[in-house]
Amino acid sequence: MKIPRILVVGSFVMDLIYSTSKVPGEGETVNDGLSFASAPGGKGANQAVQAARLGMDVTMVGKLGQDMFGDELLKAVESAGINAEGVIRDPSCSSAVSNVVLEVVPGKKAKNRIIVVPGANMSLTVSDVEFLKDKISRYDMVILQLEIPLEVNKKVIDYAYEKGVPVMLNSAPYQPLDDDLLSKLTYISPNEHEAYGLTGIKTTDGDGGIDISKVEMAAKVLLNKGVKNVIITLGSNGVAFMNRDMFIVKPCVDIVKVVDPTAAGDSFTGAFCSAVCMGMTMEEALDFANYTATITVSRMGAITSLPVIQEVRDLMKKDNYIGKRGV
Ligand code: RIB
Repeated sequence: MKIPRILVVGSFVMDLIYSTSKVPGEGETVNDGLSFASAPGGKGANQAVQAARLGMDVTMVGKLGQDMFGDELLKAVESAGINAEGVIRDPSCSSAVSNVVLEVVPGKKAKNRIIVVPGANMSLTVSDVEFLKDKISRYDMVILQLEIPLEVNKKVIDYAYEKGVPVMLNSAPYQPLDDDLLSKLTYISPNEHEAYGLTGIKTTDGDGGIDISKVEMAAKVLLNKGVKNVIITLGSNGVAFMNRDMFIVKPCVDIVKVVDPTAAGDSFTGAFCSAVCMGMTMEEALDFANYTATITVSRMGAITSLPVIQEVRDLMKKDNYIGKRGV
């Protein structure tokens, strides 16, 4: 079988991770830090590496500074086997960094809060990606996120749309998207907060629970704007999927300890796209992506936590997966 080719145009970020048992309030200092680590990440790089670790032939396009973090981030994608020839090094800006505050309270699931300083990611220009116009038809899928300038994403979406190449937009972090852009997407994967921003429909009930009828309404709004397949990730409440033929909700694979939720959504998106490219049905792809993301949350860091295909298969086997989970 031909190995599917995936193009990721997106971000690199060096994550600086502070684990703490207490998150400070305004004007407060807490002496409750538990540990510090740095790990390569960025939504684009995470999704690219996840797809590569699942056996896809991945090309990544993006921008890095000419600095130490840039070297490390480039090494992280290259050592996953990704073709990074289209990654630009720009000496006039710094590579992106983030502050990941990881709240670790005994007996509770770890939670994160992330501030990204976008640096080189936001210096990527439309002319930097023009070379893709004639090359995009080589790919089986294009994956995008919202950590690079929107006009760059729009250009890549137009190139892909003209050539009939499916596009997945992981619409994170939230920003408003126009109807023309949405109408050209094959897949969109907002989380519940981003779905609220995009549709104005609040799907959470205030206690961390989800109102599924609202999730269905939000998915319908996006479908009516022309997105072909809508995937709303719901954190520990699972994931919802809607296209013209079906609406399904899948629970989380709740069989591991949550060490660090960072990159769970990226792992899910990279795995879902890989699964679709491998020929799985939508339902199988959702399950496969759920299992993949489950492994990711059981480990520290972003790229450091993303599993390889055998680990996903082993977990599915251990969980006696038989082709479908809790629809
Ligand atoms: O989705 C997780 C990622 O978001 C982190 O790796 C961080 O870099 C931010 O881009």
